[in-house]
Amino acid sequence: MSAIQIKSKLPNAGTTIFTVMSSLSVQHNAINLGQGFPDYQMSEELISLVNEAMKTGYNQYVHMNGYMPLKEALAEKVEYIYTTKVNPDTQITVTPGATYAIYTALTAILHPGDEVIVFEPAYDSYIPSIEINGATAVTVQLQFPGYSIDWNEVKSKINERTRAIIINSPHNPTGSVLSENDIQQLRTLTKDTQIIIISDEVYEHLIFDDKKHESILKYPDLLEKSLVCFSFGKVYHCTGWKLGYCISSEYLMKEFRKIHQFNCFSCDAPKQVALSQFLKNRENYVGLGKFLQKKRDYFQQLMQQTKLKALPTYGSYFQVYSYSDISDESEKDFAIRLTKEFGVATIPLSTFYSSGTNNGVLRFCFSKKKSTLETAVERLVKL
Ligand SMILES: Cc1ncc(COP(=O)(O)O)c(C=O)c1O
Repeated sequence: MSAIQIKSKLPNAGTTIFTVMSSLSVQHNAINLGQGFPDYQMSEELISLVNEAMKTGYNQYVHMNGYMPLKEALAEKVEYIYTTKVNPDTQITVTPGATYAIYTALTAILHPGDEVIVFEPAYDSYIPSIEINGATAVTVQLQFPGYSIDWNEVKSKINERTRAIIINSPHNPTGSVLSENDIQQLRTLTKDTQIIIISDEVYEHLIFDDKKHESILKYPDLLEKSLVCFSFGKVYHCTGWKLGYCISSEYLMKEFRKIHQFNCFSCDAPKQVALSQFLKNRENYVGLGKFLQKKRDYFQQLMQQTKLKALPTYGSYFQVYSYSDISDESEKDFAIRLTKEFGVATIPLSTFYSSGTNNGVLRFCFSKKKSTLETAVERLVKL
């Protein structure tokens, strides 16, 4: 019998760099500042609320669109922060993480032949999620070293096939954030077009230096044509929960739910119940930016002892450092050597570009315990 042949839907996809660097990190007993996850404990209160929800009996399917009290709490938070009213019944869907929400959003709107504008460096799921739907990613590089958007270039790449633009602020991997002017440019470029905005806002509250998060939720006219994706895991220091949500206009959410109902259908019940209670206390999210800023500042201060040069970061879990004064190795080679010889795992930025652009920079995750950051820097000083 001949072997079964399948035509790969993603012929070029390998193992993600996060898995590769984390495995290398374990193999060489390195400090893992590569993958974006906290190594400190999440809120004890939230853990207790989940335990309580399970004991109370919230262990069966909840509504496919999400547990209503959680969606109501989210709608209240949106109104409090962004002064925009969203209908929890028709505009919010709880998902198993933001990656899933982004995939679902793209699947709901894309057809073969469509084009999607993606800014690079980009979170690694965007392009495969576009391609699996038969569409094409059209990339625009953020301008090094500030990682800002050249809107004239975006304009030059828009045509009648452009179906969506993906934005991400605060940005992974660079920590850059969009300004009010960026939003204005986006508004101008998408006005009177069929372009839908997919806004990845997983680092929503994790913004520093008193900058304001330019959420699409602040702009009802843009929300009308957007699918905005969030992650509870990222914001509440529990990435392993893989729980998130999407907010959109009613007509787009209808299409989003058509995909969602036949894929995940219903998400983790006890965690939704717990979060619905946790979110009632605004203190649980308003201080998150300051909490993480302290980590960024501490890491930056420690890193001054090294030969690495910091690029600015205004949000997210991440800080980019340039090593171009030390070596002209490729980012990948340098990151591998750093892991093997110095015991610190990072992520080369080139892996966030489809063309493998090398600027001699690495991404470090600073959402770690003080002691983890200290040990990592003790090793990096030897560079
Ligand atoms: C920009 C961005 N989007 C989405 C995600 C994934 O979020 P989740 O774990 O909720 O799927 C990440 C995680 O690293 C991210 O950095």
